[in-house]
Amino acid sequence: MNILSSKRTIAENLILQFDAALKTLANSAIAMRPNPARSSTPTLTSLEKRLSAQCMRVNHAGEVAAQGLYQGQALTARKLAVAEKMRQAAREEVDHLAWCETRLIELDSHTSYLALFWYTGSFMIGAIAGLVGDKWSLGFVAETEHQVMAHLNSHLHCLPAADNRSREIVALMVEDEARHATQAISAGAASLPKPIAVLMRMMAKVMTTTARWI
Ligand SMILES: [Fe+2]
Ligand SMILES: [Fe+2]
Repeated sequence: MNILSSKRTIAENLILQFDAALKTLANSAIAMRPNPARSSTPTLTSLEKRLSAQCMRVNHAGEVAAQGLYQGQALTARKLAVAEKMRQAAREEVDHLAWCETRLIELDSHTSYLALFWYTGSFMIGAIAGLVGDKWSLGFVAETEHQVMAHLNSHLHCLPAADNRSREIVALMVEDEARHATQAISAGAASLPKPIAVLMRMMAKVMTTTARWI
Protein backbone atom coordinates (compact mmCIF):
# COMPACT_ATOMS: atom_id res chain seq x y z
CA MET A 1 0.00 0.00 0.00
CA ASN A 2 1.28 3.43 -0.82
CA ILE A 3 1.32 4.82 2.73
CA LEU A 4 3.87 2.16 3.64
CA SER A 5 5.89 1.97 0.45
CA SER A 6 6.08 5.74 0.01
CA LYS A 7 9.25 7.56 1.00
CA ARG A 8 7.02 9.74 3.17
CA THR A 9 6.54 8.52 6.73
CA ILE A 10 3.06 7.88 8.11
CA ALA A 11 3.48 11.00 10.28
CA GLU A 12 4.31 13.09 7.18
CA ASN A 13 1.26 11.68 5.41
CA LEU A 14 -0.94 12.55 8.38
CA ILE A 15 0.42 16.12 8.41
CA LEU A 16 -0.31 16.41 4.67
CA GLN A 17 -3.87 15.13 5.23
CA PHE A 18 -4.41 17.51 8.13
CA ASP A 19 -3.10 20.44 6.08
CA ALA A 20 -5.44 19.56 3.18
CA ALA A 21 -8.42 19.29 5.54
CA LEU A 22 -7.63 22.65 7.18
CA LYS A 23 -7.29 24.39 3.80
CA THR A 24 -10.64 22.97 2.67
CA LEU A 25 -12.53 23.75 5.86
CA ALA A 26 -11.10 27.23 6.51
CA ASN A 27 -13.03 28.75 3.57
CA SER A 28 -9.83 30.21 2.23
CA ALA A 29 -9.36 28.28 -1.01
CA ILE A 30 -7.27 30.07 -3.63
CA ALA A 31 -8.05 29.29 -7.27
CA MET A 32 -5.23 28.73 -9.75
CA ARG A 33 -7.40 29.70 -12.74
CA PRO A 34 -9.36 32.92 -13.22
CA ASN A 35 -12.94 32.93 -11.96
CA PRO A 36 -15.21 32.05 -14.93
CA ALA A 37 -17.95 34.40 -13.63
CA ARG A 38 -17.43 37.23 -16.14
CA SER A 39 -20.96 38.66 -16.39
CA SER A 40 -21.78 41.80 -14.48
CA THR A 41 -23.43 41.46 -11.08
CA PRO A 42 -27.10 40.69 -11.74
CA THR A 43 -30.01 42.39 -10.02
CA LEU A 44 -31.79 39.62 -8.17
CA THR A 45 -34.92 39.68 -6.01
CA SER A 46 -34.37 38.46 -2.44
CA LEU A 47 -36.06 35.18 -3.37
CA GLU A 48 -33.79 34.69 -6.41
CA LYS A 49 -30.75 35.54 -4.33
CA ARG A 50 -31.74 32.92 -1.76
CA LEU A 51 -32.29 30.31 -4.48
CA SER A 52 -28.89 31.02 -6.04
CA ALA A 53 -27.22 30.84 -2.64
CA GLN A 54 -28.86 27.49 -1.91
CA CYS A 55 -27.61 26.06 -5.22
CA MET A 56 -24.08 27.39 -4.75
CA ARG A 57 -23.97 26.18 -1.12
CA VAL A 58 -24.89 22.67 -2.30
CA ASN A 59 -22.20 22.89 -4.99
CA HIS A 60 -19.65 24.10 -2.46
CA ALA A 61 -20.57 21.25 -0.07
CA GLY A 62 -20.08 18.84 -2.98
CA GLU A 63 -16.61 20.25 -3.55
CA VAL A 64 -15.76 19.89 0.16
CA ALA A 65 -16.88 16.26 -0.13
CA ALA A 66 -14.78 15.85 -3.30
CA GLN A 67 -11.69 17.07 -1.40
CA GLY A 68 -12.38 14.53 1.37
CA LEU A 69 -12.93 11.70 -1.12
CA TYR A 70 -9.77 12.40 -3.10
CA GLN A 71 -7.60 12.79 0.01
CA GLY A 72 -9.01 9.57 1.49
CA GLN A 73 -8.44 7.72 -1.78
CA ALA A 74 -4.90 9.13 -2.06
CA LEU A 75 -4.07 7.89 1.44
CA THR A 76 -4.95 4.26 0.77
CA ALA A 77 -4.24 3.94 -2.98
CA ARG A 78 -2.11 0.87 -3.74
CA LYS A 79 0.07 2.51 -6.39
CA LEU A 80 1.92 5.76 -5.80
CA ALA A 81 0.97 6.88 -9.32
CA VAL A 82 -2.73 6.52 -8.45
CA ALA A 83 -2.23 8.33 -5.12
CA GLU A 84 -0.51 11.17 -6.97
CA LYS A 85 -3.35 11.32 -9.53
CA MET A 86 -5.86 11.64 -6.68
CA ARG A 87 -3.86 14.46 -5.09
CA GLN A 88 -3.51 16.21 -8.45
CA ALA A 89 -7.29 15.95 -8.98
CA ALA A 90 -7.88 17.36 -5.48
CA ARG A 91 -5.62 20.34 -6.34
CA GLU A 92 -7.64 20.99 -9.52
CA GLU A 93 -10.89 20.82 -7.54
CA VAL A 94 -9.65 23.66 -5.29
CA ASP A 95 -10.65 26.07 -8.09
CA HIS A 96 -14.27 24.90 -7.80
CA LEU A 97 -14.16 25.32 -4.05
CA ALA A 98 -12.80 28.88 -4.37
CA TRP A 99 -15.25 29.96 -7.09
CA CYS A 100 -18.28 28.66 -5.14
CA GLU A 101 -17.01 30.38 -1.97
CA THR A 102 -16.59 33.69 -3.82
CA ARG A 103 -20.06 33.48 -5.35
CA LEU A 104 -21.62 32.72 -1.95
CA ILE A 105 -19.95 35.84 -0.53
CA GLU A 106 -21.29 37.88 -3.46
CA LEU A 107 -24.75 36.51 -2.65
CA ASP A 108 -24.34 37.56 1.02
CA SER A 109 -24.63 33.96 2.08
CA HIS A 110 -22.55 31.26 3.76
CA THR A 111 -21.05 27.84 3.11
CA SER A 112 -22.63 24.77 4.71
CA TYR A 113 -22.27 24.66 8.50
CA LEU A 114 -21.83 20.90 8.18
CA ALA A 115 -18.63 21.13 6.10
CA LEU A 116 -16.59 19.21 8.68
CA PHE A 117 -19.14 16.40 8.55
CA TRP A 118 -19.15 16.31 4.71
CA TYR A 119 -15.35 16.26 4.64
CA THR A 120 -14.86 13.58 7.31
CA GLY A 121 -17.60 11.30 5.98
CA SER A 122 -16.25 11.57 2.44
CA PHE A 123 -12.67 11.06 3.60
CA MET A 124 -13.66 7.76 5.24
CA ILE A 125 -15.61 6.62 2.17
CA GLY A 126 -12.63 7.56 -0.04
CA ALA A 127 -10.19 5.69 2.21
CA ILE A 128 -12.39 2.57 2.06
CA ALA A 129 -12.68 2.85 -1.75
CA GLY A 130 -8.88 3.09 -1.94
CA LEU A 131 -8.46 0.00 0.23
CA VAL A 132 -10.71 -2.06 -2.05
CA GLY A 133 -8.23 -1.55 -4.90
CA ASP A 134 -7.10 1.02 -7.43
CA LYS A 135 -9.39 0.03 -10.32
CA TRP A 136 -12.43 0.19 -8.00
CA SER A 137 -11.24 3.45 -6.49
CA LEU A 138 -10.89 4.94 -9.99
CA GLY A 139 -14.33 3.52 -10.80
CA PHE A 140 -15.65 5.33 -7.77
CA VAL A 141 -14.16 8.61 -9.10
CA ALA A 142 -15.77 8.09 -12.52
CA GLU A 143 -19.17 7.28 -11.02
CA THR A 144 -18.97 10.24 -8.59
CA GLU A 145 -18.06 12.64 -11.39
CA HIS A 146 -20.93 11.39 -13.58
CA GLN A 147 -23.38 11.92 -10.72
CA VAL A 148 -21.93 15.38 -9.97
CA MET A 149 -22.26 16.33 -13.66
CA ALA A 150 -25.95 15.32 -13.68
CA HIS A 151 -26.49 17.34 -10.52
CA LEU A 152 -24.66 20.44 -11.82
CA ASN A 153 -26.53 20.25 -15.14
CA SER A 154 -29.80 20.36 -13.20
CA HIS A 155 -28.53 23.52 -11.47
CA LEU A 156 -27.82 25.16 -14.84
CA HIS A 157 -31.57 24.97 -15.42
CA CYS A 158 -32.87 25.81 -11.95
CA LEU A 159 -30.65 28.84 -11.17
CA PRO A 160 -32.54 32.13 -11.56
CA ALA A 161 -32.51 33.23 -15.22
CA ALA A 162 -30.67 36.47 -14.41
CA ASP A 163 -27.89 34.83 -12.40
CA ASN A 164 -25.35 34.34 -15.18
CA ARG A 165 -22.41 34.67 -12.78
CA SER A 166 -23.39 31.47 -10.93
CA ARG A 167 -24.25 29.77 -14.23
CA GLU A 168 -20.81 30.56 -15.71
CA ILE A 169 -19.12 28.96 -12.70
CA VAL A 170 -21.32 25.85 -12.81
CA ALA A 171 -20.84 25.47 -16.59
CA LEU A 172 -17.04 25.33 -16.25
CA MET A 173 -17.33 22.94 -13.31
CA VAL A 174 -19.36 20.55 -15.49
CA GLU A 175 -16.60 20.62 -18.14
CA ASP A 176 -13.92 19.92 -15.51
CA GLU A 177 -15.87 17.07 -13.90
CA ALA A 178 -16.37 15.46 -17.33
CA ARG A 179 -12.60 15.57 -17.86
CA HIS A 180 -11.95 14.04 -14.42
CA ALA A 181 -14.34 11.18 -15.24
CA THR A 182 -12.64 10.55 -18.60
CA GLN A 183 -9.19 10.60 -16.97
CA ALA A 184 -10.31 8.07 -14.33
CA ILE A 185 -11.71 5.77 -17.03
CA SER A 186 -8.55 5.95 -19.13
CA ALA A 187 -6.46 5.24 -16.00
CA GLY A 188 -8.25 1.88 -15.67
CA ALA A 189 -11.48 2.53 -13.73
CA ALA A 190 -13.74 -0.50 -13.30
CA SER A 191 -17.46 0.13 -13.62
CA LEU A 192 -19.11 -0.13 -10.24
CA PRO A 193 -21.88 -2.63 -9.50
CA LYS A 194 -25.29 -0.99 -9.87
CA PRO A 195 -26.28 -1.27 -6.17
CA ILE A 196 -23.14 0.70 -5.20
CA ALA A 197 -24.00 3.45 -7.70
CA VAL A 198 -27.56 3.56 -6.33
CA LEU A 199 -26.25 3.76 -2.75
CA MET A 200 -23.90 6.61 -3.75
CA ARG A 201 -26.83 8.46 -5.32
CA MET A 202 -28.87 8.07 -2.13
CA MET A 203 -26.02 9.37 0.05
CA ALA A 204 -25.49 12.32 -2.31
CA LYS A 205 -29.20 13.11 -2.05
CA VAL A 206 -28.94 13.37 1.75
CA MET A 207 -26.02 15.79 1.39
CA THR A 208 -27.55 17.97 -1.33
CA THR A 209 -30.89 18.22 0.48
CA THR A 210 -29.28 19.11 3.82
CA ALA A 211 -26.64 21.52 2.50
CA ARG A 212 -29.34 23.52 0.71
CA TRP A 213 -30.59 24.71 4.11
CA ILE A 214 -27.74 24.24 6.60
FE1 LIG B 1 -15.45 19.74 -8.61
FE1 LIG C 1 -14.06 16.56 -10.33
